Amino acid sequence: MVWDMELSEAIQQRRSTREFLDRPVQQDQIEEILEAARLAPSATNRQPWRFVILQQEKEKELIAEAVTQTFVVNAPVVFVCCLDRSVFTREVVSQRIEELVEINVISREVADLLYLRKMPESVKEAGIPLSAFIDMGIAVEHMVLRACSLNLGSCWVRMFDADRLHALLGLPAEIEVIALLPVGYPVSVPGQRPRLSREDIVLQPRTNKE
Ligand SMILES: Cc1cc2nc3c(=O)[nH]c(=O)nc-3n(C[C@H](O)[C@H](O)[C@H](O)COP(=O)(O)O)c2cc1C
Repeated sequence: MVWDMELSEAIQQRRSTREFLDRPVQQDQIEEILEAARLAPSATNRQPWRFVILQQEKEKELIAEAVTQTFVVNAPVVFVCCLDRSVFTREVVSQRIEELVEINVISREVADLLYLRKMPESVKEAGIPLSAFIDMGIAVEHMVLRACSLNLGSCWVRMFDADRLHALLGLPAEIEVIALLPVGYPVSVPGQRPRLSREDIVLQPRTNKE
């Protein structure tokens, strides 16, 4: 596995890319980006992420009517980042918990506490826990940073019609589309976008003396 860039460099240099060169992304790069998602951490190791990878013009045209911004379908590759609600059922969560007990990541006592939590018995009953959105955020940002380390640009996209996209892709009922991630070589890399200062983002704890 070849890493072209240090993580700190990728964090510094990443920009949301909204214009892509007409240069193909190689299959091994796509695999690397997918691998970055696969290795992401998730609550109770549930790994709720699923991806549809669109590369053919016909496939990208298919989703165009559900996507607000045209740059998305102009990218050489579009990852449709989805969440699988079936991973939150008691049966699947139990499998994940037992795997963690098996390798001593969690003790039997902790596992028993986890089993006390309310868990849906079937996919139909399964909602989406808040931690699942966090899991998705981590996985997709892993992909963004991995793409950047391969000198590829990408952009988180949430502006789309989720129901239409779901129907156009013929996805099963338990799958929810969470984000789109267009990926390709950037036409240009702009300067850093505005950010709050470090002082702005650090909160001071209130001590008893104040
Ligand atoms: C959850 C999320 C959703 C976003 N949705 C969109 C979107 O729908 N369209 C878009 O052009 N950019 C979208 N962005 C990109 C942001 O606009 C961008 O991250 C922000 O302006 C900072 O710029 P930078 O990423 O280049 O640093 C999204 C970013 C995040 C994290």
